[in-house]
Amino acid sequence: MITYNKSLPQTALIPSSDYVIFGGTGDLSLRKILPALLWRFYNKQVTSDFRIFIVSRNPPEKSQFIDLLHPFCKTALDEFENAETVWQGFLDLLQIVSVDLQSGEGMEDLSKIIMSQQNEARPVIFYMAISPELFGKCCKWMDETGLVLPQSRLVVEKPLGSDYQSAKSINDQILNVFEEYQIYRIDHYLGKETVQNLMALRFANVIFENQWSNRYIDHVQITVAEQVDVDNRAAYYDHYGALRDMVQNHLLQLLCLVAMEPPARFNADEVRDEKLRVLRALRPCEADNVHRGQYEGYEDALGKASNTETYVALKCFIDNWRWSGVPFYLRTGKKLETRASEIVITFRQQKHMIFDTQTDTPPNRLIIRLQPHEGLRFQLISKAPGPGGMRLYPSDLNLSFDDTFDERLPEAYERLLMDVARGNQTLFMRLDEVLAAWSFIDPIIAMAADSKPDRYPAFSMGPEDQLMKNDAYGWVDPHEEY
Ligand code: BG6
Repeated sequence: MITYNKSLPQTALIPSSDYVIFGGTGDLSLRKILPALLWRFYNKQVTSDFRIFIVSRNPPEKSQFIDLLHPFCKTALDEFENAETVWQGFLDLLQIVSVDLQSGEGMEDLSKIIMSQQNEARPVIFYMAISPELFGKCCKWMDETGLVLPQSRLVVEKPLGSDYQSAKSINDQILNVFEEYQIYRIDHYLGKETVQNLMALRFANVIFENQWSNRYIDHVQITVAEQVDVDNRAAYYDHYGALRDMVQNHLLQLLCLVAMEPPARFNADEVRDEKLRVLRALRPCEADNVHRGQYEGYEDALGKASNTETYVALKCFIDNWRWSGVPFYLRTGKKLETRASEIVITFRQQKHMIFDTQTDTPPNRLIIRLQPHEGLRFQLISKAPGPGGMRLYPSDLNLSFDDTFDERLPEAYERLLMDVARGNQTLFMRLDEVLAAWSFIDPIIAMAADSKPDRYPAFSMGPEDQLMKNDAYGWVDPHEEY
């Protein structure tokens, strides 16, 4: 077990802030935003000097809202010491405000309450947990009621459009009112602890950088497998599909973090400049390098025929010096056998093997487990003990974050919400990144438009593989046990 100073470090302190959640009674707010703020309150990053505004068109009374919120916070509360005191303290931060974003009614009142305690040192954070169709209007009301201040920040989240044009148009509406430095586009994968650890792994350890290129790496696999289906959000999902829902954002962001050049500094613009270079170096995908699937029963649950993919696998190339010739395989799907996200770096084979082995030895692999059981596994080759000659077998160096750090891993939203208050955009997407990702995805979607995805049985690992069959290695399926 690693011991380190667990008191809140200076760098974790954030200024007292106002969080304003438009769509405050909705699913995102109840499931993710408020439980995340509650955890941060428990850990004393959010203090009793914060204010949280739950904004909605027809909000319930506060007591009813508390009844609504409580079940979503129960898991957290069960882990707290003095849970009742913490819960009451947190509820004291909440204020319910009625605003109709269509007509703007109620916005003046909201503005008055917010402005009553505003000063330049107090960030006011507007979280748009609403449909993107309302973003433009909402920004306009904010502007007209004097809420767009230098210390105002806007948090938005996907779906930010469904292609390049619509993403651009939504962002243009926001940018009419806010400056880019005030906009925080969430990709919650960037807030995951292990995703941040990927940067620590690459840029804080000397041993990897020399190996991190086409000289030593054979290929990279990124798998985000989910067991959930889409039944409760079928209407949204059927317009979207896995390419838009997962690849355009989460998987491409992971690919960027694996492939980017080291930024000169760990700051927002330098990190995002490097990610952008990767996105721009992606070679347009050919049809043979895209494989779409749909789980059996999807159409029955939807009630109509559909070509929407619930699984997709891509073989991508990054046309630059470091990665030329190295395939990056990406795959993601719903209703798969297991819930696991892993990045697997497969190294090239030893060019000349001095041992007289009877069988091929598997390659070295670095497996970065994003979830669950966050950690790193390094597959090495070692000699089996005892007599019988040099019998080489794969063996693992296994670093489990659970076992190594005696600390709960915070949810992605906890980190991201604190970064907004801190004014740190490093883990948020800049507009040029979002658009570059759409420029890569749009042609793939256009190519797929009229084709039927291959069916796959529920709780399998997707349709029979089409991408790897001509390559030396198959998919590395996530392990059930670590
Ligand atoms: C969301 C997608 O962005 O990410 C969902 O819209 C998906 O379809 C989810 O289920 C996966 O997130 P996580 O954190 O559970 O891996």
